[in-house]
Amino acid sequence: MGRAARRGYDGPMTTIYEPRKELRPRRLTGISEEQISQHWTLYEGYVKNVNLLGGKLAALTEKGEFGPEFAELKRREGFEYDGMLLHEHYFGILKGGGTPLEPGSRLSRCLALCFGSFAAWRRQFAAVGMMRGSGWVILYHDPRRDALVNFWIESHEDGHPAGFAPIVVMDVWEHAYMVDGSAGGRSEYIEKFFLNVDWAKAENALRAAAPAEPVAAGGQ
Ligand SMILES: [Fe+2]
Repeated sequence: MGRAARRGYDGPMTTIYEPRKELRPRRLTGISEEQISQHWTLYEGYVKNVNLLGGKLAALTEKGEFGPEFAELKRREGFEYDGMLLHEHYFGILKGGGTPLEPGSRLSRCLALCFGSFAAWRRQFAAVGMMRGSGWVILYHDPRRDALVNFWIESHEDGHPAGFAPIVVMDVWEHAYMVDGSAGGRSEYIEKFFLNVDWAKAENALRAAAPAEPVAAGGQ
């Protein structure tokens, strides 16, 4: 959670973020505690860097120094911020053994509407996860079409569709599975990921993003 103070304008607002310990998953099926522990440490590094970056940008802004240093730090902002936020979505959607996706649930019906079936969605989501490169797979809700769609996010910051809401987020950087497996272990890791998805939480995320019932198909 972040803390922010705002008492009228007294300089650029800076927020000090802290690791969201309540999101740390435990006792996952097929993903070891050591894997999560090392991954969590990397997440804490993003939180630290977001705070560091925010402080430096605020100081430069206060001094009116908008030269190359400011520009390069500003370019870095998306990487660090998304590195923090995506890990929070990822850890938050994992729960030991998962929770079932109810057949009649809103999310289940939306996946069927947009992909034909849950199995068809799962197949594409996993295939996106197997794409070459370091990044993320995100099941997004598209507010314009009221549809669900899988996106590949390169690194942490490239490819996010503006205004879409993340429903299920999967980290496929090698550090997400190298402790338990090997450089070639992504496919096995993706199967383990599915075993631990908290579908009840995903259902809540969809309901928050799209309060109305779906009216049309339109996934891809
Ligand atoms: Fe990660």
